[in-house]
Amino acid sequence: MGYQTIKVDTTVGPVGAIITGVDISKPLSALAIKEINAAWLKHHVVFFRDQSLTPTQQADFAANFGDLDVYPFMTAVDSNPNVIPIIKEADAELNFGGAWHTDTSYVERPPKATVLYAVEVPDTGGDTLFADATQAFHDLSDGLKNILESESGIYSPKLVHGREGSYKQAAARSEMAKDYGGAEDFAEQEVEHPLIRTHIDTGEKSVYCSLPHTHRIKGWTREESIPLFKHLTEICTQDKYVTRFKWQQGSLAMWDNRCVFHNALNDYQGMRRHMHRVIVQGERPQ
Ligand code: OGA
Ligand code: MN
Repeated sequence: MGYQTIKVDTTVGPVGAIITGVDISKPLSALAIKEINAAWLKHHVVFFRDQSLTPTQQADFAANFGDLDVYPFMTAVDSNPNVIPIIKEADAELNFGGAWHTDTSYVERPPKATVLYAVEVPDTGGDTLFADATQAFHDLSDGLKNILESESGIYSPKLVHGREGSYKQAAARSEMAKDYGGAEDFAEQEVEHPLIRTHIDTGEKSVYCSLPHTHRIKGWTREESIPLFKHLTEICTQDKYVTRFKWQQGSLAMWDNRCVFHNALNDYQGMRRHMHRVIVQGERPQ
């Protein structure tokens, strides 16, 4: 497809594209929004570099793609209710998003897009990995595809935010903001979603279940489910499906949680990393 308002470079890796030629701090034309959305649907994650965004400019950019959502577990920055700070202090150990996942897949209507902007990055490390869950599903055997499509998953925040969850424990050690731990009742809830999700806009199927968010396959125990989730994670995150994005201050990534997994690398101990995060409402997975 030819673009008139943007340039789209896919050499960043197997999934995703870098978009240049546009200043996203300013209101965008209808055509630019349409083209960015088309590139995003096609490549699953789009990256911009050298932007300079206040929280409200970031939220306004994200709102071009749908109504904004509120992340249930963290407090927004003062200047905008839809922007949350993701900060790992130099002396913290656990990072946010440091496992293969798609965002908040344990709620009824998980966000379709996450828009993450780098405010301050470590000198080295702190890259984010993105894995193409559509291509990975496509490449599975018909036998495994059929099994996965005939089952559903029980998704829950409890594995990370619940009483026994890693974020809750890090918050208790004051290593993460207190609200990373989440409201107890909400954190223990469960919701049923498919293991394989069909994208509402593209019609493509993707692997959707993940180790940190899918508690179990419906009707199976957690112990029985883990080996299959592990196997799928290994399959989906092979190098041939993964792009490694190196952040610079002013970089922004917008990913599609319906068809791409991501994993924030935690390899910058002793250094601070500070991001701003906005999410766009999605639909119930089907
Ligand atoms: C997120 C997340 C990744 C990162 O914001 O959902 O997983 O690299 N962050 O900070
Ligand atoms: Mn995430």
